[in-house]
Amino acid sequence: MLNAFVIALTLASAVFAQPNPGKVTGDISVHDPTMCRDNAGTYFIFATGTGIPIHTSTDRIAWTQIGSVWPNGAPSDTNQFTGTTNGAIWAPDCTYLNGQFYLYYAASTFGSQNSGIFFATSTSGLPGTWTDHGLVTSTATGATYNAIDPNLLIDGSNWILSLGSFWTGIKEMTLSSSTGKPSSSSITSLAQRTANNGAIEASVIWKQGSFYYLFSSWDNCCQGLNSTYNIRVGRSSSAKGPFVDQSGVALTNGGGTLVLGTHGSIVGPGGQDLMSDVDGTIMVYHYYTATTSLLGINRLDFSSGWPVVV
Ligand SMILES: *[C@@H]1O[C@H](CO)[C@@H](O)[C@H](O)[C@H]1NC(C)=O
Repeated sequence: MLNAFVIALTLASAVFAQPNPGKVTGDISVHDPTMCRDNAGTYFIFATGTGIPIHTSTDRIAWTQIGSVWPNGAPSDTNQFTGTTNGAIWAPDCTYLNGQFYLYYAASTFGSQNSGIFFATSTSGLPGTWTDHGLVTSTATGATYNAIDPNLLIDGSNWILSLGSFWTGIKEMTLSSSTGKPSSSSITSLAQRTANNGAIEASVIWKQGSFYYLFSSWDNCCQGLNSTYNIRVGRSSSAKGPFVDQSGVALTNGGGTLVLGTHGSIVGPGGQDLMSDVDGTIMVYHYYTATTSLLGINRLDFSSGWPVVV
């Protein structure tokens, strides 16, 4: 009886333990980070900010901000969405494959559906080496969704873009692998909630083993210690869904299993991205301990079939 109780308690704490961010040092003030590692083993983080700030590291611990993707100003096509010249770019998403960085990024203003997703490439990833390929997709006031928070999944020969924030939630479109632009006008709905004004964004589709996992950030970003962001997940046997959470609730019906939320002094973790590294699947995100958002990096253990932060 006692043993069963102890085992139950141990299991419960194992399920609900929320580890702190792994150790990072240096220039770790970031928002909506995305991480890639090049062939030489250098880690790159791209994040929300003017010109898209770039941080690099050789060990995934010590980070240095080395400049930005657009040191001479964001492409002028973004001005119509940011409402200014060289306005802050949001939530980039990098993928590194065969010696090439692919970067999707968004231009918008807070609370607006006048939003555009853009695409750029570079072989070195360094400041000022990027070629912009222009607008990928956009939305305008009155659309059913919002074209921000892009995430690319390269799944064999298929390029899949997920995107979305608030309104009717997270969407998916298929891209051409040769242009990086939509290959059809078809849009699939992946996740939606009605709670808290439908606050769901920052999607990531991740393939691990025989499942596709859809991560998102729920609730409120960007408010320092008032932030209520938290990271949720569901899974599917198809990249097109349907995704369900660990209780079997459809993500299109408000489902989403908690991966990481506020715990102790770590407030509002979210804006996440995943990367496959030599030691496993890595999740990067931001969180607050004060007014500035900081870089979180943890490994995800998928051995139970569901991601557990370790
Ligand atoms: C947090 O909420 C309080 C109370 O509404 C407000 O005074 C404060 O400005 C907020 N802080 C931030 C960073 O939004």
